[in-house]
Amino acid sequence: MENQARKKRIFSGIQPSGDLTLGSYMGAIKNWVALQDEYECLYCIVDMHAITVRQNPADLRRRALEQLAQYLACGLDPQKNVLFIQSHVPQHAELGWILGCYTQFGELSRMTQFKDKSAKHKDNITAGLFTYPVLMAADILLYQADLVPVGADQKQHVELCRDIAQRFNGLYSDTFTLPEPFIPKMGARIMSLGNPESKMSKSDPDGCIYLMDKPEDVMRKFKRAVTDSETSVKFDKENKPGISNLLTIYCTATGKTLEEAEAEFAGQGYGVFKPAVGEAVVELMRPVREEATRLLADKAYLESVYREGAQRAQYLANKTLSKVQRKIGFIAR
Ligand code: TYM
Repeated sequence: MENQARKKRIFSGIQPSGDLTLGSYMGAIKNWVALQDEYECLYCIVDMHAITVRQNPADLRRRALEQLAQYLACGLDPQKNVLFIQSHVPQHAELGWILGCYTQFGELSRMTQFKDKSAKHKDNITAGLFTYPVLMAADILLYQADLVPVGADQKQHVELCRDIAQRFNGLYSDTFTLPEPFIPKMGARIMSLGNPESKMSKSDPDGCIYLMDKPEDVMRKFKRAVTDSETSVKFDKENKPGISNLLTIYCTATGKTLEEAEAEFAGQGYGVFKPAVGEAVVELMRPVREEATRLLADKAYLESVYREGAQRAQYLANKTLSKVQRKIGFIAR
């Protein structure tokens, strides 16, 4: 009943394991902003996920706060949305433990992010890295989220979350809303500027644009972006991955269609196209960078936002958690 009366709900989050990137902006945050009026939204800074690989404590703390400032600067309204820090809501860990007992080892072994990350961090393959998707499922299911706006790389995790929810519902009657991933048609997988065969990621500073990069750094990275030996600005993912990625970035930044962008640069070389993409991104990010810088000077305000967010999140999280605890046979506290 409750589900029918309320607005549909959204949950999503980003790890403060590096500075926010253009990839995360285009794959996720842009949609968070677009959906904030239509849905009841919770957007989280998932610091508990970030520690699945080793973090410097001071950097982690700084980045979590910067990330909140950037969420706000991107246009997320703290009145409309619940903005909070994952570790401030202990129900995530509690539900995570429970759901881990309803998840198979084999399912977690198939997660491609685990395979990639464990290959990258061979000397530190922790249990947390392995069970990470269970915590992510807890994030989503705690709030009965209907929709999870993410980039393409997170689709597999959202699908696992649905499987866990379905299994639990089957055993104990309807408990969790089954979430759907919401993946943008354009911008779901922004590639590295240095290597257009691999995803733009915060751990690759040269191929990655950070939201707080200075305009001159953005321009330099775009001018150096790897392309191909041809000259035509055409979308062809197979044969021209670099140019296709730049076209995707250009269109996502400007709202133009691929056809419009191809027509705009027809007959012009990469020497014109690459800086034009850089400029479009600089203009897109300028207000975000300026507003985030302004907000970061007001720590008291940021603190009030994350404190209130955690309170609102806990209220909702507790409802689900106590239902789950009752169903599986724990004695009420
Ligand atoms: P994370 O922190 O790696 O990335 C945050 C969001 O940005 C998207 N993204 C991209 N989209 C397009 N192109 C790229 N190059 C790119 N890089 C990142 C990601 O798909 C993601 O949407 N497990 C999640 C964090 C998480 C979460 C959750 C998400 C934890 N709990 C619950 C949704 C719901 C992660 O590692 O994202």
